[in-house]
Amino acid sequence: MPSKALLFLLVGLPASGKSTEARRLEETERALRLSSDECMIPLFGRDDPDSKRNVVEAQLISIGFRAVQLGLNVVLDLGLWSRDERSALVWLAEELGVQPKIVYLPIDPATQLERSLRRLAKDPDQVYPVSVERFESFLDYFQEPTPEEISGAAQYQPPPGWVGWSEWAMGRWPSLPHVDRMRTGRD
Ligand SMILES: Nc1ncnc2c1ncn2[C@@H]1O[C@H](COP(=O)(O)OP(=O)(O)O)[C@@H](O)[C@H]1O
Ligand SMILES: [Mg+2]
Repeated sequence: MPSKALLFLLVGLPASGKSTEARRLEETERALRLSSDECMIPLFGRDDPDSKRNVVEAQLISIGFRAVQLGLNVVLDLGLWSRDERSALVWLAEELGVQPKIVYLPIDPATQLERSLRRLAKDPDQVYPVSVERFESFLDYFQEPTPEEISGAAQYQPPPGWVGWSEWAMGRWPSLPHVDRMRTGRD
C-alpha cells in the first residue's frame, strides 16, 4: 500500500550541513535519522574503507525503505554524491510507493574548510581528516543535483549495461535486496 511518509535524501559535500539538517528533520518531521558516518566512525575509526561503507549504506537504505513503507518519515544522511545513486533511490522509492525528497545543501570551499576546522576542534573523534587537497579531490566525484532532480521532474535511465535501477543499486550497495524483496520486506 502506498505510504504518505517522506523519504528525505540529503545531498552534499562534507560540512555542507547534512547531519545538522538531518537532526532538524528528526525533530520537525519526526523522521528516523540514518547517518552513515555515525555507523562508520564507531565501527572503523577514521579509516573509512569504501568496501565497508558500501555495505553500511546498503543496510541503512534497506532499513530506511522498510521504515518509510511502514509509515515513518525517514532521513538518509549518506552523501549521495552521484546522480546515479540518487536516481536509483528515487526510482526505488517510486516503485515502493513512498515519496522521495532530495534536499541539497550547497557549500563553497572556504566555508567548507572553516566549518570543518571548527567541527574538528570541537569533536576530534567524530570526523574524518580535514585538508584542502582532500576536499578538492572530492569535486571529481560530486555531481551537483539539477533543479529537475530536486523538483522531482527528472527521470534518468541506468548507465549502459545495466538492466534496471534495482540491479544497479545491488551492485553499488552490496547486500541491498532486490526491489521485489523490498516490496514485501520478506525473503
Ligand atoms: N547552516 C549552517 N550555518 C553555519 N554552520 C553550520 C550550518 N550547518 C552546519 N553547520 C556547522 O558546520 C559543521 C558541519 O555540519 P554537519 O551538519 O556536520 O555537516 P555534514 O554532515 O554535511 O558533514 C558543524 O559544526 C555544524 O554545526
Ligand atoms: Mg554528517
